[in-house]
Amino acid sequence: MTNIFTTPIFYANGEPHLGHAYSGILADIFHRYSLLANSESCLITGTDEHGLKITQAASKSCTEVEDFVDRKSASFAELWSALKIDPDVFIRTTDRFHAQFVEKVWKKLRDKGDIYLGNYQGQYCIGCEQFYNKRDLVDEKYCAIHKTEVQSFEEETYLFRLSRYREQLLEFYTSNQDFIIPTFTQDYVVKQLKEEPLEDLSVSRINHKWGISVPGDENHTIYVWIDALFSYLSAIQKAGYNPDQLKKTTHILGKDILKFHAIYWPAFLLALELPLPKHLIVHGWWKVEGHKISKSIPETVVHPKAFQTELSNDGLRYALIKQKPLFRDGDLVQDSLKHVINADLVNNFANLVKRNNTLILKQLSGEIVGITDLDIECRQIVTEAEVKLDKVINGYQTFDILIVSQLLNQILTELNRFFHERSPWLINKGLTREHVSSTCFVVANVVREIAILYSPIIPSLSESILNELGDNRSASLERGCPLLRDISIKKVQSHFTRV
Ligand code: ME8
Ligand code: MG
Repeated sequence: MTNIFTTPIFYANGEPHLGHAYSGILADIFHRYSLLANSESCLITGTDEHGLKITQAASKSCTEVEDFVDRKSASFAELWSALKIDPDVFIRTTDRFHAQFVEKVWKKLRDKGDIYLGNYQGQYCIGCEQFYNKRDLVDEKYCAIHKTEVQSFEEETYLFRLSRYREQLLEFYTSNQDFIIPTFTQDYVVKQLKEEPLEDLSVSRINHKWGISVPGDENHTIYVWIDALFSYLSAIQKAGYNPDQLKKTTHILGKDILKFHAIYWPAFLLALELPLPKHLIVHGWWKVEGHKISKSIPETVVHPKAFQTELSNDGLRYALIKQKPLFRDGDLVQDSLKHVINADLVNNFANLVKRNNTLILKQLSGEIVGITDLDIECRQIVTEAEVKLDKVINGYQTFDILIVSQLLNQILTELNRFFHERSPWLINKGLTREHVSSTCFVVANVVREIAILYSPIIPSLSESILNELGDNRSASLERGCPLLRDISIKKVQSHFTRV
């Protein structure tokens, strides 16, 4: 069964920023690892195009809303292609078949008695497209995320019987302890479910036309979050799968939209008697001088393309995952991103590869074949690397990509130490040919494994190195494939430029 990875579908109310790029890069890394580990894999992203927030942004820029969302949605599609991320499905909530899908869902929920007409009074944040209780607001009137004043609404609305699903949600969480990654986030959700009242959820807006109409009641429009969450399923269908595929689906999202994914989404699915997703990977925020990067605070907006130009695509990807644990917030400091790229990718990796491969080409005619006996130092470094490579695989499987990058970099540090101590470049100064060839042999073979396991994170650099080695089978991933294999190098090039 195919693994599916999703990003949130981003609001088409502005240009993409680095926060969006981060979610896309994470999803792409897991998707690429899944392909590498020989699974089928499907990457889904898209844009969220209905609701008040969007119409307000369109009218502010004096554009027809249809044209406005077309343009913003295209900006996201361009972002992915600029970042060399290739989604299998790019879903738009204005797609016709998506609307039809959501209408069907609505009818099912209504026929089951899970949706009923009532009234709701609450404080609405348009930025979040969400009602809040006064206790969740700053000074009872400001949204904690957008820092803007909320609006008081009292209106007729359709409501979803969320309270019906509380017990089932708790049961689900009890029997799926690793549903949310990190676990402390799951603990927080469970605590909320146990301790806080779970009110029925307002799921339509009256007199607001930009959205999908409630079937049978044109005065109401379906709540944007129902519209948005079900894009995961309409996209799965668009990719040619049935809803059962949810079992193999991992959603990547920021902590700002946790409640929608951890409570509402599973509750809707339970109501529809559909399977629940496999995991939610909930990441922290990138900040600029302490403030979350956000479209609503223009000073914080960092354009991914500017960073990519400065750092290179691989550099950007690498630095974003190496500079903070996935689950925490981090401040974006361009100089320290550059520093880590130069230290790890240039000095530790690309330079070692170049020196080793140059020696192989110049001193050993590009060939190291038939080595069977290795001295103890060589055997030791290979064994240590193998232990760490296993941990790298475990890191990917548990979505701990900070550990993945740290371990791969540690292996490289060890390999550099080994290379320097053995100084194979002193070939004409008394070292035996055997000493030189076994050193280069070990380095080249371990480098290949590293390049393969780095490839989900730094695809271009890995590919360039693997091309030079002319072999991309992985001992760590393919059972029965030996780690130490004959080496043949035809030409040597530089793989990465200092940033
Ligand atoms: O919430 N740091 O869309 P959105 C890291 N349409 N990630 C960030 C970030 C930051 N500073 N800022 C944004 C919506 N993100 C809804 C989602 S899904 C069914 C509907 C990322 O445009 C992060 O993934 O506000 C966050 O959850 C998402 O963008 C919010 O994007
Ligand atoms: Mg947002």
